[in-house]
Amino acid sequence: MKRGKFITFEGCDGCGKSTQLKLLSEYLTAQNIPHIFTREPGGGKISEAIREILLSGKNMEMTDECEALLYAASRVQHLHDRVEPALSEGKLVICDRYVDSSLAYQAYARGLGEEFVSRINDYALKNYAPDVTIFIDLSPKDAFARKHGADQNDRLELAGMEFHERVYAGYKKIASAEPERVVCVDGKKSPEEIFGDVLAVLKEKNCL
Ligand code: TYD
Repeated sequence: MKRGKFITFEGCDGCGKSTQLKLLSEYLTAQNIPHIFTREPGGGKISEAIREILLSGKNMEMTDECEALLYAASRVQHLHDRVEPALSEGKLVICDRYVDSSLAYQAYARGLGEEFVSRINDYALKNYAPDVTIFIDLSPKDAFARKHGADQNDRLELAGMEFHERVYAGYKKIASAEPERVVCVDGKKSPEEIFGDVLAVLKEKNCL
């Protein structure tokens, strides 16, 4: 059986990733293309339990290093539980976030650096490199404006803006370092136009 393709979606919070994943799910089902959708952190019993620890507001004292290691641990389990079985059955695997999120959020935005984050993600990077990564390119300012209206100045949300700008800059760096794998799709277009671009990329990369 031919091994399936591994496709990941990346982008800043609020970039419109969920809408695209929903449209892709409808498309693949309508076309009878064998596939699974999964997400990080999560996708499986142990990985979902780690997700709860990571995203809980009760764990504010977690160190950046612990956070990065938990993302990496959840990733290894998720590869074993969900990704590998589906790929070996020849299915398309669509994953909402993957190692690039750890690079953008933990290495660049939190400042842990590429070396540390790549090292703890060595297993994933060596054995499960995505065939294609779609980066929905929308800056945090544009994402925020789209959500709340262009002229709103929410002080609390803006306080996190610097962090999200660093995430965005991290993604841009990854995309320019690996243009063959990471394809940027313009997140400012309408959802339907973006989806047209997503399909075109997946067809061009022989994933559909
Ligand atoms: P989620 O609610 O799934 O958000 P989204 O819909 O934006 O994907 O939360 C995932 C959060 O986890 C998101 O803010 C990005 C963060 N994250 C990391 O910081 N590092 C990682 O390696 C991964 C996979 C996610």
